[in-house]
Amino acid sequence: MPLKNINPTKTESWKKLQSHLLEIKDVEMKSFFQKDNNRKEKFTLNFEDLSLDYSKNRITEETLEYLLELANESELKDAIQKCFAGEIINVTENRAVLHTALRNRNGGEINVDGSDVMVEVNEALGKIKAFSESIIQGKFKGFSGKKITDIVNIGIGGSDLGPRMVVEGLHYYKNHLNTHFISNIDGDHVTEVIKNLNPETTLFVIVSKTFTTQETLTNAETVKKWFLSKQFNTTETDIKYNFVAVSTNLSKVRDFGIADQNIFPMWNWVGGRYSMWSAVGLSISLALGFDNFNSFLNGAFKMDEHFKNSPFEKNIPVILALLSIWYNNFFNTESEVVIPYSQYLEKLPPFLQQLSMESNGKSTDRNGDSVDYQTGNIIWGNTGTNVQHAFMQLVHQGTKLIPADFIGFEESLHGLKDHHEKLMANFSAQAEALYAGKTKEEVHLDMKFQGDSDKINQLLPFKVFEGNRPSNTILIKKLTPKNLGSVIAMYEHKTLTQGIIWNIYSFDQFGVELGKELANKFLSK
Ligand code: F6P
Repeated sequence: MPLKNINPTKTESWKKLQSHLLEIKDVEMKSFFQKDNNRKEKFTLNFEDLSLDYSKNRITEETLEYLLELANESELKDAIQKCFAGEIINVTENRAVLHTALRNRNGGEINVDGSDVMVEVNEALGKIKAFSESIIQGKFKGFSGKKITDIVNIGIGGSDLGPRMVVEGLHYYKNHLNTHFISNIDGDHVTEVIKNLNPETTLFVIVSKTFTTQETLTNAETVKKWFLSKQFNTTETDIKYNFVAVSTNLSKVRDFGIADQNIFPMWNWVGGRYSMWSAVGLSISLALGFDNFNSFLNGAFKMDEHFKNSPFEKNIPVILALLSIWYNNFFNTESEVVIPYSQYLEKLPPFLQQLSMESNGKSTDRNGDSVDYQTGNIIWGNTGTNVQHAFMQLVHQGTKLIPADFIGFEESLHGLKDHHEKLMANFSAQAEALYAGKTKEEVHLDMKFQGDSDKINQLLPFKVFEGNRPSNTILIKKLTPKNLGSVIAMYEHKTLTQGIIWNIYSFDQFGVELGKELANKFLSK
């Protein structure tokens, strides 16, 4: 049975939310806290090493009740079950959506077109493990018999952003291999990366689900040409020592010259932006070792179980999605900012941009009609505390309402206590400042206290913060492979939930095609 086609704006809960909005939109969150001493506990959810405090949102228990009703009226439960069971929920591409199978630890079968995909998934995991170990241990050698020292991932979009974000995000756990990423078709990118590399000790991992992507193929061809240039004394037969590929398109990979034993599988039922759990994440397994890659998958699996089995009121991805819909569709916000308080996670916002915006940037509903309500929002962000000295001014005092996700870690990895205390003080302070703001009276008192009474008349209006700006606080014990796996899966499921409620198809990406077509036309002019 296909996904139900339910226009969210025609549901009873949507109407309830609209009239509820009128009662609540000008109410200060502070008054919610004043009325309810248990608000923080009530609006906090715990899962493994992670907690979500969503008490600093412009919601009451009544808001939540209607939002949960919206999830039920949208038949979200049924959609989740269909997704995990491998039903064709990516209707426009006639595909199942099974990134969850890639980290499935249940042992059960998941059938697509009558065959159990877990057999191939487990086989591929075995191949990733064996290959990673032989590279890390120096058993797999380059064309001249030397050990591999450098890994270059060549891919773009989902074949780049996820692996790059995880390799960088978990750098602390990295082994001796140097990891590089080439994505942009800008020739300066590939030139910069290869200029200091030794082809004898470099492994090129070409990642492309389709093996037709212009950027990836152009970069791969440039690298191959460089590898085969006279100066290195190489021949075509040496390609098998230094090139591997991850793709669904076996014939194109073979045409490129890659040996069969060096081809890692990908499947049509995994979307590019959801694919780092497959061999697309080979560079993760190479850089961190298979055990860490496995823990990363495990963390995602735990979040999958939480998402699949928890009632919606206790379900972290569902709550995050509902809050996002509340602001996007009722407060008419345009964007959400994600701020990890870990420099390792600098690439998390760009990864989330593709995940969310390529999935839910759609204006046609599941019936093929144009939507008359807002769908995908703009995701942006960078790391705290850097952003506090950059764009946070606009989030605190600008004219736009921008819900924020703050992600922080109780423990630092290298243990500089003084730094971590300051980092986390800033983490807490940002959410508090957005929520509480600073009234005229407070500014007045402050200025007087600081001996600036003479400037009060002139400066007071500029120093007022209206506050009442929403945020989620996601606090995690420590940045580990397992916990990062959970966080990414959490955002994947948030994205799915939003798409289901918005009645759109989240797993195609036709919107990127026109630009590609036109680029080809311009090229042939
Ligand atoms: O152009 C968009 C896109 O199709 C993404 O969805 C995908 O992640 C990326 O291109 C790369 O595609 P491929 O892995 O097939 O090279």
